This record gives sequence, structure tokens and C-alpha cells, in this order.
Amino acid sequence: MLVLGIESSCDETGVALYDTERGLIADQLHSQMAMHAEYGGVVPELASRDHIRRVTPLTRACLAEAGKTLQDIDAIAYTEGPGLGGALLVGASFANALAVGLNIPVISVHHLEGHLLSPLLADPRPAFPFLALLVSGGHTQIMAVRGVGDYQILGETLDDAAGEAFDKTAKLLGLPYPGGPLLSKLAEEGDPTRFTLPRPMLHSDNLDMSFSGLKTAVLMLKKQVEAECGSVDEQARKDICRAFQEAIVEVLVSKCVKALKQHGLQRIVVAGGVGANKQLRAALDAAAAKRRFGVFYPPLKLCTDNGAMIAFAGAMRLQYARTAGSFTVKPRWDLS
Ligand code: KG4
Ligand code: ZN
Repeated sequence: MLVLGIESSCDETGVALYDTERGLIADQLHSQMAMHAEYGGVVPELASRDHIRRVTPLTRACLAEAGKTLQDIDAIAYTEGPGLGGALLVGASFANALAVGLNIPVISVHHLEGHLLSPLLADPRPAFPFLALLVSGGHTQIMAVRGVGDYQILGETLDDAAGEAFDKTAKLLGLPYPGGPLLSKLAEEGDPTRFTLPRPMLHSDNLDMSFSGLKTAVLMLKKQVEAECGSVDEQARKDICRAFQEAIVEVLVSKCVKALKQHGLQRIVVAGGVGANKQLRAALDAAAAKRRFGVFYPPLKLCTDNGAMIAFAGAMRLQYARTAGSFTVKPRWDLS
């Protein structure tokens, strides 16, 4: 079965083809990052217009990459939500129109389910059940995943998502949008021993997290460095980035270890944009080696938004779960 996947929930247009026999056979992506950069964040109206411009050429490119034609497609999956309403509608309209024209089923996919299942596109593939750490720009959740469609939220952030904390902290350190990946790059050259920031909720007896206070702590630290040294020079900025990253990584890893123990799970899957963070991966790998659990990541390029995860989640839903075909978008939508 050949499934076309369309992702348009935010600032990336992703189109991909997933073949249930052969795996991912085409994956095309256009990022609007440069377009939104001059505004310091995503402008919803511009995002929608750009999705309209990109979705048809990307679909053509996908078919060419796989050596397929429209008639070879068996089903179309699209991101129904959560995300920007107008942006979602572009993908929903395109997918539904094409599906009507080709007389094939359309499958609406939850964006987070796409992220959640994306590590199954890697080799080796984790077996169910597993714990999922979902860390993106909009969400930070720890979930028990027992099968396709069987998700239980065990803990989540009470305020900022991890990616949001990276981006907001980067902004207050004067880094250009989107700051998260840049902050983590600078952190690699920072001294982990120079500054220490608080680890919010590290010892709370639940699996919830909180990251908004960390950004305030960074602001105070920045002011302190400015008062003591006159300004925040390049090395001090790297050291602050490192202190921030150390704190956030320690909280995430500690909550995951706690969740694995509490729920008797042996595998953890990391998904979402922050899953690309090298220090988070290294810390999880070290914890996994010490405590003998398995850790699985999506291929690096599938950590952030893409069409491949939507095509894959659509194929899984068609094969193993309900096949909810609808022409709707849900800008706000909980996964469980
Ligand atoms: O999953 P994603 O592409 O979009 C959402 O669904 O939100 O995640 C984007 C988020 C952004 O906040 C970005 O700053 C963050 O992931 N991110 C990173 C890294 N790469 C992307 N955060 C920390 N370290 C990275 N290497
Ligand atoms: Zn995402």
C-alpha cells in the first residue's frame, strides 16, 4: 500500500510517500524558516500562503523521486491538527481534493502521533510498549505507548514546552530566530562548571515539568554577568547557554528514568524537534547504558516537522487502527 503524507501545521511544508512493503520511498520538505526570520517568529498568514505555493510542486517532486504517478497512490494522510488553523486548512483541502479526484481514502492524522511514531521509521525499530518523550516547540509530554492509537499521558509541562524554552531563552540572549538549535550549538562550546541554574520540579513526586522559570533564571544570570563584567561577552553567552541546556537536559532525563521505573517499561522513544539536541541524546544514551534500557530516536532529519511521519502514521492507522477520514482541521487537539 502506498500512502502520500501531507504536513502543513506550522512553518514546514512536508510531502512524503510511504510504502508499507518498501518503507519511506520519497520525502520532500520546504522550510519557511528564512521567510519568518525577519519577523522573529512564524506569521500565520504568510505561512498559509507559502504552503499553498509549495504543496503541489513538492507532491510532484515526491512522485518523481519515487518514480510513481498519482494513480499509484492508495491513500492520502494529512495533518488535521494541532497547529495554525489556516496552515492546516491548506494541507486538509489539498489532501481531500486529491483523494476525491483519485477516489481513494483520506486519513486525518494527529501531528503529535506523527512525531510519536516517527522513531519507528528508524532501524532498529522499537517494539511496543514503550515510553515516549515528546519534546517539540509546542509540547513536552511523557507518554506510555502500548500500540498504534493507545497513548497515555504520564506527565507534561505545566507551562512552556522544552522547545519553547530553548527559543525564548535564545531570544533573550540575543540569538536570531529560530534560536533553539543555535543555542544548543553555542552550549557545546560553553563551560558546564561556570554557572549553575535551577532544575525546576526535579524532585517533584510526579512526572510533570515546568520550564518557564528557567528562562527567568537565565535573565537574572545575564543581568548578574552584565553587572559584574560590564557586558556578556561571547564566552559568557556560551557558558550561559550551556548552563541552561544542562538544567533542561537533567530534568528531562530524570523524569524519563522515573517514568520507566514507575511503569515497568524497558524502552524509550524520543520524538519532536528537541529530540535533535545532541546533549539530550548523549545524556539519555548514558542513562540507558547505566540502567539497561533501550533508547530510540527518529532519523535526525525526521526530528522536526516533515511529511514522512504523517505518511507513516497514516499507513499505521490504515493497517492497525481506526481509519478516521474527515475534512476538518483541529488547531487545538489533545492526543489522549
Ligand atoms: O517538532 P518541531 O519541529 O515543531 C513543533 O511541532 O513544535 O520542534 C521545533 C522545536 C523548536 O522549538 C526548536 O527550537 C527545537 O524544536 N529544536 C531544538 C533543536 N532543534 C530543534 N531544541 C534544542 N536543540 C536542538 N538541536
Ligand atoms: Zn512538530
